[in-house]
Amino acid sequence: MRTASCVLDPAAVVAPVRRRTFGSFVEHLGRCVYTGLYEPGHPLADEDGFRTDVLALTRELGVTVVRYPGGNFVSGYRWEDGVGPRERRPRRRDLAWHSIETNEVGIDEFARWAGKAEVEIMYAVNLGTRGVQEALDVHEYVNHPEGTTLSELRRANGAAKPYGIALWCLGNELDGPWQTGHKTATEYGLLAAATARALRSAEPGLELVACGSSSSAMPTFGTWETTVLEHAYDVVDYVSCHAYYEEHDGDLGSFLASAVDMDHFVDSIVATADSVGARLRSKKKINISFDEWNVWYLSRFQDREPATEWEVAPRLIEDEYNVADAVVVGSLLISLLRHSDRVTAACQAQLVNVIAPIHTEPGGPAWRQTIFHPFAKTAALARGSVLHTRLDAPTYTTARHGEVSVVDAVATHDDESGEVVVFAVNRDQSDPVELTVDLHLFDGDLGVAEAWTLADDDVRATNTVEDPDRVVPHPTPRVSLGGGTLRVVLPPVSWSAIRLGPAR
Ligand code: AHR
Repeated sequence: MRTASCVLDPAAVVAPVRRRTFGSFVEHLGRCVYTGLYEPGHPLADEDGFRTDVLALTRELGVTVVRYPGGNFVSGYRWEDGVGPRERRPRRRDLAWHSIETNEVGIDEFARWAGKAEVEIMYAVNLGTRGVQEALDVHEYVNHPEGTTLSELRRANGAAKPYGIALWCLGNELDGPWQTGHKTATEYGLLAAATARALRSAEPGLELVACGSSSSAMPTFGTWETTVLEHAYDVVDYVSCHAYYEEHDGDLGSFLASAVDMDHFVDSIVATADSVGARLRSKKKINISFDEWNVWYLSRFQDREPATEWEVAPRLIEDEYNVADAVVVGSLLISLLRHSDRVTAACQAQLVNVIAPIHTEPGGPAWRQTIFHPFAKTAALARGSVLHTRLDAPTYTTARHGEVSVVDAVATHDDESGEVVVFAVNRDQSDPVELTVDLHLFDGDLGVAEAWTLADDDVRATNTVEDPDRVVPHPTPRVSLGGGTLRVVLPPVSWSAIRLGPAR
C-alpha cells in the first residue's frame, strides 16, 4: 500500500482555530430564504414562520456566522423595504436573479432567525446602486441603541435592543461586470474607504470587509486588491475572497485537487495585501474573509436558458452533491484551517437549497446533502490551535494544478484537553493510502477517541429526498495508535477526521 507521513509538533502553531471559519451565507436567492429558512404554513414552522427542521440542521452543521442578505442580490437591495408591517412592504424586481422579492423577510426577521440558530450576523451593505448614506442608515437601524429616528423605528418594529452587528461587508463582488453597479477598482476603493470612514465615525470598533476578487480567474485579480487597498488599507480589516469549484469535463483528478487553487488564492492575496501595507509603511495586517466558497456546478447554471418569467423564490442553482463533492468540501476546509493565521472568517455559500449543505422540499422534509458532513464534523472537532502539518506523500499530475499531493491533511491541538484532531483527504481514485502521524512530541498517552471516514464505492452517490442518508461518514475501518504513531488507512476519494484524546 502507498504511504504518507507527517510529524506533528505541539509547538508548531499556525494560529488559533477561528470559530468564524465555520461561517455560512444566506442570500435572497432562489429558495434559500423562502421555503428554505422561512415557510409559514409548513407543518414544522415556528411562530415566526421559520422551519424548525432547518434551524435544527443549521445548529447541527455548527455554523457560527452567517453572511446576509447577499451576494449579487444586495447590490440592488433597499434594506428599508424589508422592515415594518409586512402588508406594506413593496414587491420588487431582483435584477441579480431575475426574481420577485416580496420582502416578507428583512433584517428584523433574519436577526430573529439568527438568534434562534445561535449564529452571528455578517451584514453586507449595498454599494452597487447605493452608497455611504444608506450604509449609515442601515447601521443606525440595526446598531444604534435608541433615541434616533431609525433606532426608534427598529424599536417600534419590535426589537428594543440593537443587534450589535460587528462584521460588515462593504458591498459584494463589485469587480464583476455582472454586478449591478459594477465599478472600477478606483471607484470602488474610494467608495469603500468613504463608507468605512463613515461607519467608523458611527461605531469605531466595527470589523469591515472590502470586496476582493470574485474569483482568482478575474482579469483584474491582484490589481483589484492592490488598488482597493491603496485607498482603504487604514480603514478596513479584511479583504474578501470568493471561489467556487466544479469538475470540468470529467477531470475528477483536477477537481479533487481544488484546494491547491484555494491555497494559492489565499497566499497570493496575503502577499498582495502585505505588499500594499509595506508600501504604506503600515504595521497593520489585512486579514482575509473567504466569504463565499463551495463546490458549485456554475457552468451548468451559465449554460441554462435565461429566465423569462419573474417568479417568487424560483428553484435556482439547487446543486445535488455527491461523494467527490463532499471530499472536495472537506479538503477546502483543510485549506481554510491551514491558513488560519490570515483567513479569520469564511462563509460556505450558501446554507439552504442554493448550492447548499441543507436541502428542503416546500411542505416536505429537510435533509443533509453529502457536503453537510465534512463541514459539520470539522466545525465540531477542530479546537484549540492549528498545527503546521507538513506531509511527505506521493504526488499525481493534474491538468489544472500540475503536480499535487495525493494526501492532504491538517491537524488541530487543544492545549486544555490535550486532544489532537487530524483531518485528511486521499485524492487517489483507485488506491488507499496509509497515513502515519508521528505524535511522540505530545505529552501523555493518546488514544483514538473517534474516527470518521466519508467514502463510497460510487463517488457519484448522492443524498436524495427518497434516500437522505445514502452518503454519511462511517467509523474509520482501519485506524490505530501505538508507540506514539497514528496509522490510518485512507480509502480512495475519501475524507477522514480522527480525534485523539488522552487515554482514560
Ligand atoms: O453565491 C451565489 C453568488 O455567487 C453570489 O450571489 C455572488 O456573490 C457570487 O457570484
